[in-house]
Amino acid sequence: MSIRIQPSILSADFANLEAEFSSIRSADGIHVDVMDGHFVPNLTFGLPVVKRMQEITSLPLDVHLMIEDLDRWAVEYAKLGVFSVTLHFESCKDVAGTIAAVKATGSRVGLAIKPATPVSAIQPFLSMLDQVLVMSVEPGFGGQSFIPVSIQKIRDLKSLLNKESPDTWLQVDGGISADNIAAVATAGADTFVAGSAVFNSANPAESIDRLRELAISGSQSS
Ligand code: DX5
Ligand code: ZN
Repeated sequence: MSIRIQPSILSADFANLEAEFSSIRSADGIHVDVMDGHFVPNLTFGLPVVKRMQEITSLPLDVHLMIEDLDRWAVEYAKLGVFSVTLHFESCKDVAGTIAAVKATGSRVGLAIKPATPVSAIQPFLSMLDQVLVMSVEPGFGGQSFIPVSIQKIRDLKSLLNKESPDTWLQVDGGISADNIAAVATAGADTFVAGSAVFNSANPAESIDRLRELAISGSQSS
C-alpha cells in the first residue's frame, strides 16, 4: 500500500510560504485548509491565495474546503488546476452533482466527514471518489488531540472501500503525530495530514520522513 504524508500549511508561517514550501519538499503534497469563519469558527484564505500557492510550488495541492455553499465554490478551486479538492459532506446540498462538477475540471475529488458524521452517510458516493477524508478532530484549528474513536471509523471505511472502491485513498486529518500514525495506518488510512507535527518541529523534512516510516510500518502490520 502506498503511504502519503501531506503537511498542513495551517501551522506554517503565512508570511513566508515560499520558504515553508521548500522546507517540506520531501512531502507527497501540501494540504491547504480553506476556512470561511462560518462552516468552521476560523478564517484562513480564499481563491486568490490558493491561486498564488499553486503558482509557486510544484508539489500537489490538496485543498480541504471548510466553507459554506460548496455547490457554488468547490468548482472554482478545482479550476485553479490544483491536484485535489475535498468537499465536506455536511456543507453540500447536491453532493453527487458537486463531486461530478469537480471531477469534470480534471481535479481529483474527495469527500470529508466531521467526527459526528457516520461513515454510512457517504457510502452512496464512495465509488465516485478519489479520496475520502475522516476528520479526527473537529475541523477549524490545528494542534488539537486525535479523537480515539476515529480509529474505528477508519477501519469501517477501509472495509467498505475494499469492497466498493479499492482505488479510493483514505485520508485522515487532525492530531496526527509520531505517537499515533502507525496505529492509524494499521486501521487502514493511507494518506496523512499533519500540521503541527511537521511545522512545529525543529526539522520539518526529518519529521515528514519519520512519520512516513512509522506509517509504512503500521500499514505492514494491518
Ligand atoms: C483542522 C485542519 C487540519 C489541521 C491539522 O481543521 O483541517 O488540516 O491543520 O492540524 P494538526 O495536524 O496540528 O492537527
Ligand atoms: Zn485539513
